[in-house]
Amino acid sequence: MTKKRIDTLSALDYIPHPLVIVTAGDPENPNERGGMTAAWVSRISWNPPLVMVAIAPSRHTLKLIRKQGSFALNIVSKALENAAYSVFGMLSGKNVDKFSAAKVTVKPAERIKAPVIAEAPVVIECEKIDEVKAGDHIMIIGEVVNAYINSDDTPLVFYQSRSGELNV
Ligand SMILES: Cc1cc2nc3c(=O)[nH]c(=O)nc-3n(C[C@H](O)[C@H](O)[C@H](O)COP(=O)(O)O)c2cc1C
Repeated sequence: MTKKRIDTLSALDYIPHPLVIVTAGDPENPNERGGMTAAWVSRISWNPPLVMVAIAPSRHTLKLIRKQGSFALNIVSKALENAAYSVFGMLSGKNVDKFSAAKVTVKPAERIKAPVIAEAPVVIECEKIDEVKAGDHIMIIGEVVNAYINSDDTPLVFYQSRSGELNV
C-alpha cells in the first residue's frame, strides 16, 4: 500500500480505545447519580495503580466526580453496548436517571461512594487524586482502590475510523 498522509486530528481516530461507562455520585439517589460513556480512558502508572479519564468540562458526570471525589470504571461488553451508545453516551444525566433509562442494575460500589453497573464484566473503583486541564478536556486522575470481575464477557474496543464510522 502507498503511504498516505493524513491530518493530525484524523490520525488520532486510528488509536483503538477501551469502551467504558464511568459512573459517579450517590448510588441511592436517582437525582444524584450518573454516568457517561468514555473512550479516552487509560492506565497511567504502575505504582500506585493510576488511571486517567479525559472528560469534557460540560459533562454532568464531571460534576458528580468532583462532588464525591470518586468514580468507577464499568467495562462495556456486548450486553452493555446499547446502553453505552444510546443512553450513557447520548443523554445528559442532568435530568435523567440513566441507570433506569438503560434498564441496567445499579449497585453501590464496595470501597467508594459511587454507583456501579452489575452487568459490567469488570468494575474498577477509583478515588480521584488529581485533575489536569489538557486542551479542551480535563484529565481526571484516579487511584484504583478496589476492583472485581463479575463475568468473563469480553470487553469491547472502541475504534473510530477516519470516515467517522464506528467499529466496536
Ligand atoms: C463511544 C463514546 C465515547 C465517548 N468518550 C468520551 C470521552 O472519552 N470523554 C468525554 O468527555 N465524552 C465522551 N463521550 C460523550 C459522553 O459520553 C456524552 O456526552 C454523555 O452524554 C455525557 O453525559 P453526562 O453529561 O451525563 O455526563 C463518548 C460518547 C460515546 C458514544
